[in-house]
Amino acid sequence: MSTHIGAEPGEIAPVVLMPGDPLRARWIAETFLEDARCYSEVRGMLGYTGTWRGRRVSVQGSGMGQPSLAIYANELFREYGVESIVRVGSCGALTDRLAVRDIVLASGACTDSSMNRIRFEGLDYAPVADFGLLHRAYEAARTRAGGADVHVGLLLSSDSFYSPRPELTARMVEYGVLAVEMEASALYTLAAGHGRKALAVCTVSDHIVTGEETTAAEREKTFGAMVDIALEAALG
Ligand code: ADE
Repeated sequence: MSTHIGAEPGEIAPVVLMPGDPLRARWIAETFLEDARCYSEVRGMLGYTGTWRGRRVSVQGSGMGQPSLAIYANELFREYGVESIVRVGSCGALTDRLAVRDIVLASGACTDSSMNRIRFEGLDYAPVADFGLLHRAYEAARTRAGGADVHVGLLLSSDSFYSPRPELTARMVEYGVLAVEMEASALYTLAAGHGRKALAVCTVSDHIVTGEETTAAEREKTFGAMVDIALEAALG
């Protein structure tokens, strides 16, 4: 067992899908995997291992925000030898180039978090996706996006869901950022630091410009398309 994951060595597959919501982890395991078995319920942050097309894969909830994701990503990389983590989550669109239900494949992730500032002592590190995962996700999205438009570009990983400085978010948009979420930047940085691979695939759940939001039924449908893309990218 690691500090926050109740799995024995070998119980977690080298490839992990990582939704923020632990109940989504259970839904992915029950909907997409065969022979799925829960390996951890510590703090309710569910983790499962099963198979997809005969290959082992795990699904681990990360919780919300970079500090929470970093706990699970660190332990998966360090203690369980995980090779690839694909985040599957939601994001808020920051530009009218995106519509709700669109899918964003994050080539990189900017951040307002202090986590990298502390890690790199004031230097600005550029957290980017693993190109192989990104390329395969883009190829998979051609057939598996379920009608949603797919964008490749930058996310802003914010520490604040309710932004105290919207004018700074606007500046990020001037420099090409497509959408805001709360986890990808830490994931990309930790994967790079451990010499492992990561990708974030996010569906647009809400639109900061138009105020539009998705219904629960729409979220489930696009979430399914995103999981398909993530599984193809990681294991296909
Ligand atoms: N995830 C989904 N929508 C978001 C938003 N508006 N801000 C931050 N994270 C999000």
